[in-house]
Order: sequence, then structure tokens, then C-alpha cells
Amino acid sequence: SGDQIIIPCVIHVVYANATENISDAQVQSQIDRLNKDFGATNSDYDNTPSEFQSVRSGDTKLRFEILEIRRFSDSRDTWGTNDAVKYEYPPVEPERVLNMWVADIGGGILGYAQFPGGSLATDGVVMSPQYFGDATATGGSNFYLSAPFDRGRTATHEVGHWLNLRHIWGDGNCSADDFVSDTPVAGNPNYGCPSAGTNSCPSSPGNDMFMNYMDYVDDACMFMFSAGQDNRMQATFANGGGREGFLL
Ligand code: ARG
Ligand code: ZN
Ligand code: CA
Repeated sequence: SGDQIIIPCVIHVVYANATENISDAQVQSQIDRLNKDFGATNSDYDNTPSEFQSVRSGDTKLRFEILEIRRFSDSRDTWGTNDAVKYEYPPVEPERVLNMWVADIGGGILGYAQFPGGSLATDGVVMSPQYFGDATATGGSNFYLSAPFDRGRTATHEVGHWLNLRHIWGDGNCSADDFVSDTPVAGNPNYGCPSAGTNSCPSSPGNDMFMNYMDYVDDACMFMFSAGQDNRMQATFANGGGREGFLL
């Protein structure tokens, strides 16, 4: 219920070579992917197993728009996860703009995010260019993307963190929590494309919700948030939630 929340996005494309200077079309395909996934209009939404259909999120009413694409040529090859790229290319109005840096992180890392409540100077999400965009979009075969993380789900996952979502396994064993009650307890990340019925914590109720955007499976095998996760994301827009500036 309620109105849509429009999230303006500034995309900082920081490239060391022409390949990393991804096209406007590739950037747009990523924004389209976010709008589908957060709107529950993704074509794989109905792959959700019956055991989780009653708890999957519908439309989160969050929508993403490109405010500006900024391009920076930089000879640095990889940027790591210590926010160096953000200090070099500072965020634009982070209290009301989602800043995304597309730069080669290196080390096989797909992306990383800052939770609400952190320093504004480093607020936003970072993704390597080969994981930013949707190969299934029109023209997608011309994009610089690397399977099996070529459908734009890294950004869906990172924006989930940016809106306060934890990993589905709570980054710990079967005693660690993700602070969402409708995601069953899981004891470890899942990878690839797991079989139905995978259960990392058999002594707790429910199989792993490995098809959730906040697990580590392949892009083609994640296609839902839960209703509880939607509530947790919405709470960030309330007073004190850290993202209230996006409502002004
Ligand atoms: N490892 C990254 C993180 O923890 C992103 C994982 C994204 N997974 C994917 N299938 N695209 O933030
Ligand atoms: Zn993550
Ligand atoms: Ca849970």
C-alpha cells in the first residue's frame, strides 16, 4: 500500500579501458532490472516454489531512475572494497540520491554496499562492470557481462543491503539471524542453482529460501524478496531509518 518511492540514481562509471566503459544501454538495462525485481514484475517471479509463495514480497513500490551517468577514465586497474573509488569520485547528494559506482573491484568480488546509517561520504553501492547490467535485455549480447552473474541481480542484492537487508543466513551458523521472521533460518550461503528442498538447518523450521535475492546463488536462480524483507526495507524510509531523505 502507499505511493511509489522514486529513487534517483547517479551512476559513476570508472574505467581503466574501453571495455569497462560500459554503454548507456547496459546501464539502463541494470536500472530496468532493478525496477522489475523491486516491482515483482520480473519474468522469473513465478518460479518461486509453492512453499514460499505465501511469504514472497509483491511490489515493493520502490522505483529507480537515472539522474546522471558520470564517466571517469582512470588508470587504476582494481579498487578493492575499502571505498577508495568513492573518495576519488565522491557521491552526489547521498541523502537523496542512490550513488552507484561501476568500477573493477577485483578479487572476483561482484559488489559491496553500505547499510543505512553510515557516513554520507561513502554511501551507496559498488559493482564491477561485468556484473552490472542484464544480458537478457534487448542488445544484451553486446554488453560486457560475465555469466552466471549477468542478469543484474548483483545490484538487486546490493540495493537490498543499502536498504538494510542482511544475508539470508545472517552471516553465521544456524543461530545467526537476518532479523526477518519469514525467511527460514539458514546456516550458510548457497551457490550455483541448488535443488528444491535444500536445508542447511534441519533442526529449524523451513527449507533454505535460496532463491532469495539476499543469498549467493547464480543470477538466474534468485528471483524474490520476502514480505518481511519488504517491511524491513520500507522501515528505512521512516524517521530515523536512514533513508528518510528520499521522501522529501
Ligand atoms: N557477494 C556480493 C555481496 O555479498 C554479491 C552477491 C550477488 N549475487 C549474485 N548472484 N549476483 O554483496
Ligand atoms: Zn551481500
Ligand atoms: Ca529469518
